[in-house]
Amino acid sequence: MEPSLVRNVDELDDALMPSRLASSPVAHVPTMGGLHAGHTSLMRAARTLGDVVVVSVFVNPTQFLPSEDLSRYPRDLEADLELCMREAVDIVFAPEVAAVYPEGTVGGVTIDPGPMGSILEGASRPAHFRGVLTVVAKLFALVRPSHAVFGEKDFQQLALIRAMVRDLCAGVEIVGVPTVRDTDGVALSSRNHFLTPEQRGRARSLWHALSAGKAHEAEGADAVVTAAHAVLEAADGLYLDYLALTDPDLGPAPETGEARLLVAARVGSTRLIDNTCLSLGRAARVSLRG
Ligand code: PAF
Repeated sequence: MEPSLVRNVDELDDALMPSRLASSPVAHVPTMGGLHAGHTSLMRAARTLGDVVVVSVFVNPTQFLPSEDLSRYPRDLEADLELCMREAVDIVFAPEVAAVYPEGTVGGVTIDPGPMGSILEGASRPAHFRGVLTVVAKLFALVRPSHAVFGEKDFQQLALIRAMVRDLCAGVEIVGVPTVRDTDGVALSSRNHFLTPEQRGRARSLWHALSAGKAHEAEGADAVVTAAHAVLEAADGLYLDYLALTDPDLGPAPETGEARLLVAARVGSTRLIDNTCLSLGRAARVSLRG
């Protein structure tokens, strides 16, 4: 069945009225559209959590830096609806900017992401996470979900959304879903759309680097970072922003146990990010910037 397409808050309230009256769980998948198989896995996870699945499609202007081309972001609502229909999504909420930012996109109240918002992605994209958290808080206030599903590919985003929900007592259960990869290991992303076939080949080095790091996890942090860095250094046409090994909350990596290896690099004019989980044998946090 086709999902209900709702374009404003009144329509959203009408569509959600029966589940609100019945206090049924509502699972929300916030997206910026350009939906692909990575989003499909989020929708499938949402289906297991909510009686109603809402996918929001909203290209959020406040999370783009002035240097990042907001108008270039892929938009194809027809194709997004098609995919949502195949996944039996109940409601697609695709509001205009004015419905989400009635006060305008500058000068209103925003959410400060705290110190975690200025490391890694935040160091290269100042104000990005302020925009992400602000829009996610607004979407949660509009949809009022019981659960919300996000991909682990944007690992820092997921960690910050968890922190926001905890610190602001937002009462939404946040569920992270593992990254979906192409057969060559490249993480699915709406940004892959911008890569030429040659650049797409170069993008594989991110996953090769993470895999090389993971292959050394038992030897500890230094071995992991050295192995991953060697792959990135040898890669042609790939400009490293950062390679970082942290704990699962993006703090210092533990000597042993669960850790995260994160990478960001530019291929042509496209910035790509990826990460993987590790189980470390020994040693401490290491971070290298390109
Ligand atoms: O990951 C995304 O697509 C966006 O950052 C999000 C969470 C929908 C907020 O605009």
